[in-house]
Amino acid sequence: MTYLVTGGSGFIGSHLIEKLLRNGHSVINVDNFDDFYNYQIKIKNTLQSIDQNPDFKFSDKETDISYLTDISRSDHYQLYYQDIRDKKGLENIFKSHDIDLVIHLAALAGVRPSIERPLEYEEVNVRGTMNLWELCKEFNINKFICASSSSVYGNNEKIPFAETDNVDHPISPYAATKRSGEILGHVYHNLYHIDMIHLRFFTVYGPRQRPDLAIHKFTRLISEGGEIPFYGDGNTARDYTYIDDIIDGITKSILYLEAHAGVYEIINLGESEVVTLSEMLATLENTLKIPATRKILPMQPGDVLKTNADITKAKTLIGYQPDTDFQNGIKKFVEWFLRK
Ligand SMILES: NC(=O)c1ccc[n+]([C@@H]2O[C@H](COP(=O)([O-])OP(=O)(O)OC[C@H]3O[C@@H](n4cnc5c(N)ncnc54)[C@H](O)[C@@H]3O)[C@@H](O)[C@H]2O)c1
Repeated sequence: MTYLVTGGSGFIGSHLIEKLLRNGHSVINVDNFDDFYNYQIKIKNTLQSIDQNPDFKFSDKETDISYLTDISRSDHYQLYYQDIRDKKGLENIFKSHDIDLVIHLAALAGVRPSIERPLEYEEVNVRGTMNLWELCKEFNINKFICASSSSVYGNNEKIPFAETDNVDHPISPYAATKRSGEILGHVYHNLYHIDMIHLRFFTVYGPRQRPDLAIHKFTRLISEGGEIPFYGDGNTARDYTYIDDIIDGITKSILYLEAHAGVYEIINLGESEVVTLSEMLATLENTLKIPATRKILPMQPGDVLKTNADITKAKTLIGYQPDTDFQNGIKKFVEWFLRK
């Protein structure tokens, strides 16, 4: 099969591509190496995903990415340095390949930055996503997986969060763009029969995790002896999901889409284990064997109090079975962090 993965040089995308290539598929990776975090991390992710030596000599961004594109091209893999906001550019890619299914992970992620740059989030996460659907329509590609987020639940009072809960109350621009994607996706499913699954990821962690996310940021700060920005009283809580479980959920969604027609589904992918901020930090301190210095700060606007996934639908519909508990996952993450 030939899969087009957007955002394939990011955290989740690079793991997905690694798995798809190992399973013998062909992959087209569309990524613009956005400046949300250092592009060099994305170059390393890309090299690791295609099993090449990550010992890369960096010079400047344009040169590095063009060199990476050249050295990585093979019969089964092609990287396009391409912004999803540019429909013409995307069209050339769709023209050049027979794509079986699109897995759309490219996005501006992160809740807090979306409050600073809401229009850019709308351009990438909404318009960019629509560009892909427009091209799927034009090129008759009718299988599509889209990354959504637990943030669409806002401060949902019902715990755990189920796909049937009302999600009309997002509290950040990021969350609203993800919810818009789910809604607009339904239009393309309805009008153009694009079979579609929107996966609501619950805070994903593990090797290659984005450096802006709390587990990675805290691990770096503890190791360097820096102060941990500790927002609120430590009782905010997250359903943290280990990367291998997320990849398992995506690959099972691919199989489901390939075996069924007339699909439009929204599915939670979480671990169903809730960890408070205090517990998360204590686990990192214990694993690193270094005490942290906390700097207590007020809660940040846009941050939700708690996330907790009901994963009954994922289990029954696609056979999702997450199996990495938080202690174990953090051990693996810290091992990776200390090795890199
Ligand atoms: N990591 C999480 O905890 C989490 C939770 C919920 C949802 N998600 C969603 O999962 C997806 C992947 O997240 P991630 O953590 O791997 O993020 P990431 O930032 O590591 O990966 C996203 C990739 O998209 C690329 N990208 C951004 N804007 C682009 C554009 N305009 N054109 C082309 N490529 C562009 C980036 O360069 C990056 O490589 C995103 O859609 C995110 O919103 C992630």
